[in-house]
Amino acid sequence: PEDIRVYEFAEKLKRPMSDVIKVLFDLGMMMTKNDFLGSDEIEVLSDEFGVEVTIIDPKDEFNYEEDLAHDVEEDPNAVKRPPVITIMGHVDHGKTSLLDAIRSAKVTEGEAGGITQHIGAYTVEQHGEPITFIDTPGHAAFGAMRQRGTDVTDIIIIVVAADDGVKPQTEEVIKIAKDSGAPVIVALNKMDKETANPDLVKGQMAEHGMTSVDWGGDVEFIPLSAKTGMGLDDLLENILITAEVLDLKANPKVPAKSAVVEASLEKGRGPVATVIVQNGTLKVGDNIVCGSSYGRVKALIDENGKQIKSIGPSHTAQVAGLDTVPPSGEVLMAVSSDKEAKEYAHKRYEYDRHKELSKSTKSTLEDMTAMI
Ligand code: GTP
Ligand code: MG
Repeated sequence: PEDIRVYEFAEKLKRPMSDVIKVLFDLGMMMTKNDFLGSDEIEVLSDEFGVEVTIIDPKDEFNYEEDLAHDVEEDPNAVKRPPVITIMGHVDHGKTSLLDAIRSAKVTEGEAGGITQHIGAYTVEQHGEPITFIDTPGHAAFGAMRQRGTDVTDIIIIVVAADDGVKPQTEEVIKIAKDSGAPVIVALNKMDKETANPDLVKGQMAEHGMTSVDWGGDVEFIPLSAKTGMGLDDLLENILITAEVLDLKANPKVPAKSAVVEASLEKGRGPVATVIVQNGTLKVGDNIVCGSSYGRVKALIDENGKQIKSIGPSHTAQVAGLDTVPPSGEVLMAVSSDKEAKEYAHKRYEYDRHKELSKSTKSTLEDMTAMI
């Protein structure tokens, strides 16, 4: 971050260098002409001289995620992590019912005293193996994450109502799934209905390049019913088998990198973000940055409303402690100090604002040309 020297700053402001040094000195900062200014100093100086300083090179893509991201592939300390699942499908085909059915069948008994709250993601266990589900309207969250490059989804479940077949949104999610490259499992839902016709669905899906294993293809189709619970175990088993093949890994011992699934402002708690950890461990007390938002993890709350101390890879919790509400799909990272968090957030804020400004200037110009 320290990339401007005292004399460069003075030149930019067209002020004598001695003035700049004096202001710094008066504020208790001993600096000479070749010293680099930190963002705190720059902030103070710009206040003092009544100028607005934007520390951006617009050509310089902002990529703090890459700066800080930990390379899992290359990490000898990476260990197995649970899979993260997104459920997608046509309207009314049973996405919400399926998520609810899995959750109520698998949430550890007694843990929550039956009270569960919606937090946008949850983790269940199948034979002691955790599986995390993203519990938000399927492809909205997915789209937001893809846009920001926070692909947390390891496996996509496409729900198709066996009594209704492939519909426009099913086609849409097939395309999304193919583009993402994530493996797909098809949940043939509503099998309890008399009008259910799994073979019809298999035929339609095959036409879209998703052929069932029993038809000679490579996509698992699991007949189930979110209503009766039939087939849920098969689905979870299949998820674990698919995850095994993917050989998913992360290192729980590094600072956390996580993705925001959803976030909101909550009464008494301030900005709260539901995150899924991609790598590392997120702990209470960590300094965090999330886009232009930053802070310290004040509390981590699990899907049962319980306060927890930390979460590891592929696990999820609500994070309280950011200063503003971040957008879904944003990266939330732990950094080494409060100063670093603040700096990154500020840089990002300036970057976003710059982008926003250049967008609006452009459209104004276009509008004007249109008027002429
Ligand atoms: P949107 O969020 O609106 O896109 O719908 P959804 O895909 O989340 O579907 P939802 O779970 O809301 O289910 C739609 C309707 O189908 C509801 O009336 C459910 O009760 C019903 N339904 C879901 N799963 C089953 C099932 O396995 N069997 C039967 N008979 N009905 C089901
Ligand atoms: Mg729904």
